[in-house]
Amino acid sequence: MKFVVAIDGPAAAGKGTLSRAVAERFGFAHLDTGALYRATAARVLAQGGDPADARAAAAAARALDPADLDRLDLRAAPVAEGASRVAAVPAVRAALLDFQRAFAAREGGAVLDGRDIGTVICPEADVKLFVTASPEVRAARRSAEIGQPYAEALAALRRRDARDAGRADAPMAAAPDAVLLDTSDLAIADAVALATALIDQKLTQARAPKAP
Ligand code: CDP
Repeated sequence: MKFVVAIDGPAAAGKGTLSRAVAERFGFAHLDTGALYRATAARVLAQGGDPADARAAAAAARALDPADLDRLDLRAAPVAEGASRVAAVPAVRAALLDFQRAFAAREGGAVLDGRDIGTVICPEADVKLFVTASPEVRAARRSAEIGQPYAEALAALRRRDARDAGRADAPMAAAPDAVLLDTSDLAIADAVALATALIDQKLTQARAPKAP
């Protein structure tokens, strides 16, 4: 059976942790789509290029290799910043589209997390979540995750949020039918429990025999 869970939201809102937990709970495959943009940026940076250079970014996205997703530098701050720059290039998004849709279409269920999954990549997703948290909470989490000073992390998140939400092509946005989940004051276990209940309900509906 095909079953797609789309999890979108701004940087460090908890999408990754929630997606991994949900994928494990239901035995679904998980794709962190941010890693595709991060790997594209890492490729450009490794070649001494500028992630804002549309031609270089598009070429890097087309040349992406599965091994790029295992690069050790993907979580580094300059790569995150570069990712939001390459992500604003329409040719980059176009180059990464088929891979994401094919991943979502696999048998056995898939969880994809990103910025445009519920709106552009999988508008027909069975479950859509938009995960948010206050900028201050997100900056504290990111600062702890990568060891970046808090003020720097906050400024970087704000810059990236503005770029991701403001771009013309596939801007970060909650789909009209997405369920909003604010994790500012929510423990991860509680966020997972809420998402699990929602998915359980949709799975039951999807498995129910159709009326003739
Ligand atoms: O982990 P974090 O939330 O900081 O970011 P990420 O999910 O790894 O995404 C890195 C960057 O890739 C974002 O700032 C977006 O610019 C871009 N991205 C996107 O445009 N569309 C997606 N579906 C996923 C990520």
